[in-house]
Amino acid sequence: MLAARREVTHVETPGRVWPGPPLARAAGNLAVTGGAGFPRGGVAMVVGADGGIGSALTRAIQASGGFDRVLGLSRRSQPSLDLEDERSIEAAARLAASLGDIRLCIVATGVLHSEAMRPEKALREIDPAALAKSFAVNATGPALVMKHVLPMLPREGRSVFAVLSAKVGSIGDNRLGGWYAYRASKAALNQFVRTAAIELARRKPEALCVAIHPGTVDTGLSSPFARSGLAIAGPDTAATAILACLEGLSPGESGGFFDRSGERLPW
Ligand SMILES: NC(=O)c1ccc[n+]([C@@H]2O[C@H](COP(=O)([O-])OP(=O)(O)OC[C@H]3O[C@@H](n4cnc5c(N)ncnc54)[C@H](OP(=O)(O)O)[C@@H]3O)[C@@H](O)[C@H]2O)c1
Repeated sequence: MLAARREVTHVETPGRVWPGPPLARAAGNLAVTGGAGFPRGGVAMVVGADGGIGSALTRAIQASGGFDRVLGLSRRSQPSLDLEDERSIEAAARLAASLGDIRLCIVATGVLHSEAMRPEKALREIDPAALAKSFAVNATGPALVMKHVLPMLPREGRSVFAVLSAKVGSIGDNRLGGWYAYRASKAALNQFVRTAAIELARRKPEALCVAIHPGTVDTGLSSPFARSGLAIAGPDTAATAILACLEGLSPGESGGFFDRSGERLPW
């Protein structure tokens, strides 16, 4: 059941008006509407709120009505958050905490390709600048979000910090090779999640810090590499599943790496 519309903060980005149309399908499946997963109220924040999956997550969280404030952050939001600018991350974390208890934070940013870089097919294509960019956006930036947001999570009650990782970051599951920068930076991200979760559990035993593989999702990040025959989900479908997955995880599962259906993935 949908609760009354809650306030959405700082989610306007040029060219896009938030909120979008209500997501009846998403909201109907979400226990963030007040089920056991989260205490009602508090703040939800999405980092990368203008990305393909991040925007769908922001809409679905907002449509759920389960939080008092929904903070959508990106390089174009006001205030802006740039993963390569620690001060902007720190300011965003402080802003979120000033609005209420942070009950949910999802980092939905990432880079696989750009005009200046494309995934490597072979060792000879490894480029230090592309490696540095991949690590800055996929690993260091999310680690800095952990650094500033995890201490702000409420001391009591459930809260969830999740980063979107990628199954190709799994070392145990790597059978195809290639994509060195993306794979290695996501593997580093997974290690940050695991390590931060151990530290978090000492102070906030009800809080979770997890890595989620969203599956192959139709976004700008994946579109150049979509192969026919591959099951590709729409961003709204993926967002619904990710939120249901997060709700279903218990504190004992903090520090894990899961796909969007909640299946544990190998490191
Ligand atoms: N799509 C898939 O099939 C798939 C599969 C596995 C994992 N994932 C993971 O899912 C996550 C979301 O991907 P997506 O498919 O939604 O990609 P996307 O549509 O390209 O979104 C990526 C987001 O990252 C943001 N970003 C990049 N650099 C940033 C920086 N320095 N500071 C702040 N934000 C920055 C982008 O913001 P700007 O608009 O400012 O560039 C954009 O909002 C990523 O971690 C990706 O690795 C996706």
